[in-house]
Amino acid sequence: MLNIAVLPGDGIGPEIISEAIKVLKAISEKRNIDFNFNYYDVGGIAIDKHSNPLPQSTLDACKNSDAVLFGAIGDPKFDKNPDSSLRPEQGLLKLRKELGLYANLRPVRSYSQLFEFSPLKKDIIENVDMLIVRELTGGLYFGEKKSSKTSASDLCEYSIDEIERITEVAVNYAKIRKGKITLVDKANVLETSRLWRKTVQNISKKHSDINFEYMFVDNAAMQMIINPKQFDVILTENLFGDIISDEASAIAGSIGILCSSSIGKNKGLFEPIHGSYPQAKNKNIANPIAAILSAAMMLEFLNLNEESKIIKKAVNISLQNKISTADLNNDNPSTTSEVGDYISKKIKEENL
Ligand code: IPM
Ligand code: MN
Repeated sequence: MLNIAVLPGDGIGPEIISEAIKVLKAISEKRNIDFNFNYYDVGGIAIDKHSNPLPQSTLDACKNSDAVLFGAIGDPKFDKNPDSSLRPEQGLLKLRKELGLYANLRPVRSYSQLFEFSPLKKDIIENVDMLIVRELTGGLYFGEKKSSKTSASDLCEYSIDEIERITEVAVNYAKIRKGKITLVDKANVLETSRLWRKTVQNISKKHSDINFEYMFVDNAAMQMIINPKQFDVILTENLFGDIISDEASAIAGSIGILCSSSIGKNKGLFEPIHGSYPQAKNKNIANPIAAILSAAMMLEFLNLNEESKIIKKAVNISLQNKISTADLNNDNPSTTSEVGDYISKKIKEENL
């Protein structure tokens, strides 16, 4: 029995997560796998119900589960809240920190079925396949914050240990991928970036089979658009990783299909990289594929590799046959639940 803590969160979170659960139930039926799904509040909904974006009961449940499936958080109604600990986002940040999820893996590839949805030319995005390895529990997100009436500051701090452990993750992936790591930093200006560079350079000496490159983040933002094929594993700190992964989603065709996993020593949390898209809430129009592919990443983490592949194949069929929400289908869009139904049906019926 696998205990999954399900945290749908805010905005479109509940809608896309219910499609991911539908797909996992189809897998469970087909392959005889026993999932136990337990639902918990996080984010804005948790502030409304428990006055806390990460209630203790949610945190405890996540700690005691085999994996966490996460939807999205964020609600504009909290934007004016003067108490910053009562922002929905704080729930996710605290969860990442408490579970020790220091590595955020964001695979980005182009899909031949979706070339027309990328603003970039086909010959630029064709065959792009990269993995963004984003440090997730340090840097500006977690440094000391101060604010007064006239000024504010966020401290960016990294220790060698923090840099080493995320670099090891990048190294392990580079070894099973194309053997290249690009460290994205701002070492011409930032002290923390200089420490990143020095630490990664030291580690690189032990790995002659890996080609290490070093790139300033401003240049990387441009290279992502003009020549994304050059990237295999991108290693970077928290905020840079947040920014370039949204940028990279333009390669895939829609941010609505990009999934991620956040891992640490032994815990794993799986979530779409997109946000809570409040404008689409309850409209049954949001793309559930990022959530469904995040569930597939969760299965891999649980050593259910075959099952994970089945989900990915079914997703490909849905894209191929244009059973897609409006972000990927201008003429005849399907709803969120129709996409989930279709993918589940393919899983049950086809020999994938
Ligand atoms: C992400 C999100 C989060 C982040 C927000 C919601 C706190 O943008 O997972 O990329 O900035 O890490
Ligand atoms: Mn983000």
